[in-house]
Amino acid sequence: MDSKLSQPKHFESDELSQMPEQRKGKNGDEQIVAEIMRRRFSPSLITTQAWEGFHFVGQEIKITEATDSYGAVVWPSALVLCHFLEMNVNSYNMVDKNVIEIGAGTGLVSIVASFLGAHVTATDLPEVLGNLQYNICRNTKMRCKHQPQVKELFWGVDLEKKFPRSLCHFHYILAADVVYHHPYLDELLLTFDHLCKEDTVIIWAMRFRLEKENQFVDRFQKLFDLEAISDFPSLNITLFKAKRRHRGKWSPVTAS
Ligand SMILES: C[S@@+](CC[C@H](N)C(=O)[O-])C[C@H]1O[C@@H](n2cnc3c(N)ncnc32)[C@H](O)[C@@H]1O
Repeated sequence: MDSKLSQPKHFESDELSQMPEQRKGKNGDEQIVAEIMRRRFSPSLITTQAWEGFHFVGQEIKITEATDSYGAVVWPSALVLCHFLEMNVNSYNMVDKNVIEIGAGTGLVSIVASFLGAHVTATDLPEVLGNLQYNICRNTKMRCKHQPQVKELFWGVDLEKKFPRSLCHFHYILAADVVYHHPYLDELLLTFDHLCKEDTVIIWAMRFRLEKENQFVDRFQKLFDLEAISDFPSLNITLFKAKRRHRGKWSPVTAS
């Protein structure tokens, strides 16, 4: 990681700071990671349709996964981000806020943000939207203050047409595990840039894997003020908060 980046704090939540040293484990995060992973449960009965269960913000969430794409399963970064949102409602209040999730996959993060009171737009590639819409509908109908929307967003494509800057004002952009060995890292950067207004806060759970993808963080930092707010070494996941650096009159960044 770039040395300019502020050192990750070990968890903001009270839960960990109150934990005795010897229970934190060798990476310092085993207890909290176990607590996060316990939020996942399996159905006790065999059902005709497979689903996985999650407990967040006092709600039972049923997620149907598929096997044919990266967006078809719930990745650990999504659990980390959901847990963070649940534990930090005072610092990151979602009530009535406009929130967009990019690379929403199965929709768990968007569902949790909706339970927390946000106006959510969950986005992903066209082939993922059917399952995403199904999970969102199944879990949020009549259970949320604002019914979340599902929308196609292929990073870097038709951004101004689909999300005009004059009309879209997102308070938060949520992203879990969107950086890995795909060829759209430039487009991902363009997308963050396009969706960000001056007061937009990005909350991004990044799983560190290969050096090439990890260099994305350095490129990202040239445009955004980036702060590591939590670190989960056992999972190679860091949770970042970012805001667009001041840029005067807006013009889109160009892909490198
Ligand atoms: C590793 S999955 C993470 C899914 C979900 N956020 C989670 O953590 O469970 C990456 C997600 O990014 C989406 N994605 C990949 N390339 C994309 C692109 N070019 N435009 C939009 N979404 C993309 C995938 O469809 C997938 O849902």
